[in-house]
Amino acid sequence: MKAVQLNETGRVEIRDIAVPEPEHDEILIKVAAVGINPVDWKIASGQLDQLINQPLPLTLGWDVAGEVVHAGKGYLAGDKVYGMKAIGQEGALSEYCTIKRSLLSLAPKTLDIVKAASVPMVSLTSWQALFTAGNIRRHQRVLIQAGAGGVGSIAIQLAKIMGAYVIATTSAKNRDYVLDLGADEVIDYRTSNIIDVLKDNPVDLVLESQSGEFQLEAIEVLKPKGKLVSISWIPPEIIKAAERKGVETEFVFVQYNAEHLRHITDLIDDDQLKVTISGQYHFEDIAKAYDESKQGRVRGKLVATF
Ligand SMILES: NC(=O)c1ccc[n+]([C@@H]2O[C@H](COP(=O)([O-])OP(=O)(O)OC[C@H]3O[C@@H](n4cnc5c(N)ncnc54)[C@H](OP(=O)(O)O)[C@@H]3O)[C@@H](O)[C@H]2O)c1
Repeated sequence: MKAVQLNETGRVEIRDIAVPEPEHDEILIKVAAVGINPVDWKIASGQLDQLINQPLPLTLGWDVAGEVVHAGKGYLAGDKVYGMKAIGQEGALSEYCTIKRSLLSLAPKTLDIVKAASVPMVSLTSWQALFTAGNIRRHQRVLIQAGAGGVGSIAIQLAKIMGAYVIATTSAKNRDYVLDLGADEVIDYRTSNIIDVLKDNPVDLVLESQSGEFQLEAIEVLKPKGKLVSISWIPPEIIKAAERKGVETEFVFVQYNAEHLRHITDLIDDDQLKVTISGQYHFEDIAKAYDESKQGRVRGKLVATF
């Protein structure tokens, strides 16, 4: 079967490899599609070598959707499933992949299986950032950075479902898209100063994803005892600045969680959570998909199909 593999840092190749044999706790899936996430090309380019915990070659791609091949372990052959493999271990960008049963769930019934591949990583990240770390509450004011991206577009909708007042940052071309997702206010980060806009009406929670100076600005626009939840990384000087201001900080690294994904699946099937796919690539064009993701301008998600 074909697989997209990292053979050495910076070298991604399509190779013929054997169809994997599932271990006792694993399920074999015929892959329909794999969601593209920035972590894919960051690992491929060596920026996140520390996350690779097996010798190369490494099959890339950790968000997956497809069909169960053999009945057993709670699934029927042909069941449509989706899940998230452990980032940095053998991935899913291949015609077939094995995945631990504990990292897999039935896919939403109402969502095309290719679209479903885009869901797990960004929705679990949003869930864990807003609910687990952020402890978001009804009527709180929440600032979501990069509202048009994979994480942001889900986070806006989840925060609205929770009853929060949502302010999202984006560039002008994505303003209407972000408002359609439910944001109450949009700040064009290219033309507006976040502190000027929010200093007189601060927020309870910030979801930050792009690192850089926005973290310092976020601290300035948080209420006392508010919280900065980062999915990029929080350097020590930011932690100190936050302590001085009396606001909390927490870095979140996404983990598969079956219960969280079950809630996400229900929200999609209840038509409360929308998924946007702005680009679909055949796996042989994976380099083009990674190049588009690297530009940092993706609206919603990209997927690679088999
Ligand atoms: N810690 C974790 O567990 C975890 C999990 C998932 C993702 N992440 C990280 O979080 C980041 C975002 O992930 P993603 O999947 O959402 O990325 P993405 O989909 O590639 O984000 C693209 C979006 O970011 C927006 N954007 C770019 N620069 C911006 C800025 N300075 N301010 C506001 N918006 C900006 C763009 O909108 P415009 O074109 O309008 O600018 C675009 O729509 C990545 O670095 C990723 O590696 C971390």
